[in-house]
Amino acid sequence: MHNIAPHLSIRNLNVWLDAQHVLKDIAADIPRRCITAIVGPSGCGKTTLLRSLNRLVELGPNVRITGKVLFDDTDIYHPGMDVAEVRTRIGLLAQKPFPLPMSIYDNVAYGPRIHGTARTGLDQTVHSCLQAAQLWDEVADRLKAPATELSAGQQQRLCLARALAVKPDILLCDESTSALDPISARGIEDLLLTLKTDYTIVLVTHDLDQARRLADYVIFLWLGEVIEQGPAADLFENPAQDFTRAYLEREIG
Ligand SMILES: Nc1ncnc2c1ncn2[C@@H]1O[C@H](COP(=O)(O)OP(=O)(O)OP(=O)(O)O)[C@@H](O)[C@H]1O
Ligand SMILES: [Mg+2]
Repeated sequence: MHNIAPHLSIRNLNVWLDAQHVLKDIAADIPRRCITAIVGPSGCGKTTLLRSLNRLVELGPNVRITGKVLFDDTDIYHPGMDVAEVRTRIGLLAQKPFPLPMSIYDNVAYGPRIHGTARTGLDQTVHSCLQAAQLWDEVADRLKAPATELSAGQQQRLCLARALAVKPDILLCDESTSALDPISARGIEDLLLTLKTDYTIVLVTHDLDQARRLADYVIFLWLGEVIEQGPAADLFENPAQDFTRAYLEREIG
């Protein structure tokens, strides 16, 4: 896992939200085509860190950011960077499914249309993304139906198809299964395991069992600082820090 350059490299990242110093001097590497889990107690800064990886964090009021996030060696916070491009190449799957108020087809076609993808390629893109999200078989005969008619689990797979349609390199997932029933949640987990052959995935989860099932690499955050990071097997089986051990044994958090 470590003999190739990381896909994202976070260097001395500090984030203040209003007056609060939420992320403190974060240094971490996100390996390529692996699943990295960000874990830690509620309020430790997981969502803020995830949203710092594609500059969504800046959408909040009174945000101050210092440090770097290198994406293939280019700092996404460099003043000349095209923020829309960053957010296209590093997509986000949110906690709750939020289909756009339009048809199933149009949800997936939304991004490619904005990016000006040729009309002729659109049907193929919608088809392949719905297939990648393992939703095609369930919706093939009702692509023009409103997306809101789908179940929550189907809606989340639709959101995944929509995220894939703009051809991101990296997929960020913030507790993306926590609003789903257990079977749909496992469905999304299985999908993420399949998708990691083509995408780098970073997921925030409260669920340590889910992190054990999915993660190749783990970053443990505590009060806005990285306490420990490393390959999942090492961190889970043989944590170097007492804090990590206590968290894993559910003594804290
Ligand atoms: N707009 C804001 N202004 C000030 N502080 C904020 C703001 N938003 C979040 N915070 C604080 O930043 C810290 C980190 O929040 P964040 O949402 O990143 O944590 P989290 O680890 O994702 O928590 P959870 O597990 O509950 O989702 C918290 O202490 C929170 O209170
Ligand atoms: Mg959160």
